[in-house]
Amino acid sequence: MTYGSGAETLARRISQTSGAPLAEVTRRQFPDGEQYVRVCGDVNGKDVAIVQSFAFSPDRLLVEYSLIADAVRGMGCRRVIGIFPYLAYARQDERFSEGEALSAKVFARLIEASGTDAVYTVDLHLHRFRTINEVFEIPATNLSAMPLLAKNYLKHPPSGRVLVVGPDSESSQWAKAVAEVIPSVCTILEKERLGDREVRVSDLSGDLCGAAIIVDDMISTGKTVLEVLGKLKESGVGRVDALVTHSLLVEGAYSKLKEGGLNSLITTDTIANDYASVSVAPLLADALLRDFAADR
Ligand code: R5P
Repeated sequence: MTYGSGAETLARRISQTSGAPLAEVTRRQFPDGEQYVRVCGDVNGKDVAIVQSFAFSPDRLLVEYSLIADAVRGMGCRRVIGIFPYLAYARQDERFSEGEALSAKVFARLIEASGTDAVYTVDLHLHRFRTINEVFEIPATNLSAMPLLAKNYLKHPPSGRVLVVGPDSESSQWAKAVAEVIPSVCTILEKERLGDREVRVSDLSGDLCGAAIIVDDMISTGKTVLEVLGKLKESGVGRVDALVTHSLLVEGAYSKLKEGGLNSLITTDTIANDYASVSVAPLLADALLRDFAADR
């Protein structure tokens, strides 16, 4: 396997967990900003997994991924498997207004055009597309980190019942996955996005518990979680934790969540961040080993 600069640490963890050797990549940038890559290792006749996460500069990271995919193809590899712990552009999954691009599909087409044979990702933002196979035309698997996050939460369980809150309709898939591990009741709110940094969520209804968990696929500015956190705190819920797979945490989001009274953010290393207490390396290593075994 090999890796892009968006996922170096995680790629090393997956390599250690799976035992798949890691081919190193040398990279540099030309004075005009163009990228250069060179893969060093023996991949001839082999299936090669390229691990790349597309956070923060997805456009540059996509080009880097394409260059690496072409490099290993040029070295005679048999198959290219894209391991994308975090896939970007998934939220623009509809042409909301006339003249917009359907970015989720465009990103998938570009990955396919890079010569990718199969894709694995984690908690893809699936909303208007119900499955990952509606996004990709090549074999694609969407894994979930939610059971791992939920098990981690149970290391310090609260006393009494727990309320699992999903901020919007698409979060019901993640709430369900968490509720399978943590005995809880679930409620799914409605969210209205008023702008890139502004959201409104519906009021809580029904019985509340002493503790609540907010679940979501990703935190970017933190506004979604903050809105739900505010409602829970106003209603007197004592302990509120958040279980979120992808932590972009832009514009001081983590501090804002802590100031808002969040007990803990339990998150993963799909995007390198200082708060990741759960690694998705075992999840991805397992998937990779199963893929290698199935394709013999
Ligand atoms: C979108 O619907 C996603 O599931 C997340 O809720 C959203 O991206 C979080 O963004 P932010 O942290 O900026 O509210």
